[in-house]
Amino acid sequence: MEYKYLTEKLRNKIDYYVNKYPVKEQAIIPSLHEILYEYRDIPHEAMEELSIYLKVPLNDIEGIVSFYDMFRHPKHGAKNHIRVCRNLPCHLGNYKNLLKMLEKLTGAKAGETSIDKNWYIELVECIGSCAIAPAFLINDDLYDGSKIKSEEDLKDILSKYV
Ligand code: FES
Repeated sequence: MEYKYLTEKLRNKIDYYVNKYPVKEQAIIPSLHEILYEYRDIPHEAMEELSIYLKVPLNDIEGIVSFYDMFRHPKHGAKNHIRVCRNLPCHLGNYKNLLKMLEKLTGAKAGETSIDKNWYIELVECIGSCAIAPAFLINDDLYDGSKIKSEEDLKDILSKYV
C-alpha cells in the first residue's frame, strides 16, 4: 500500500515501538507523537494510515487523539508549548510547584503566552505518563517532573528551546 503520511522514516519509528512493547496497541501513543512531531498536527488521513499499518481499529486511534490534549493542534502563537498535567497523580506529585517554577522562569502564566512569545503554558488533563508524575511536555518532549529538584534543573531544560 502507498502511504501518504506514514513515510518510510515514520514507519521505521513505528516499527521500533511495535517491537519494543509486548502489545502493539501500546505503540499507538508514541506513534502519534511521531506523527505530531513530523506534521505539527495529526491529520485524519494519518490516523487512517496508522490504523491500517498497526492493524488496530480506527476508532481506537480517534479515541486516543480526542482524549489527550497533547494531540490537539496547539493555537497559541508562541515558539514553545509547555503542557503541564494537573490530574490526580500529577497533583499528588506536586505539579503546582513545578508550574510555579515554570511560570517564574518563562514569564508566562498558565493559559498565557510570555511577552517574548517564547513560551505558552497550558494546564492539561492526563498525558498518559502518570508513572513519571508530575509529567510535562515541552512541545513533543516528555519530562519527568519528579527529577526536577531545583530551578537550575529546569533552567537547563528550558535553555534547549530558546
Ligand atoms: S495524571 Fe498526569 S500524566 Fe497521567
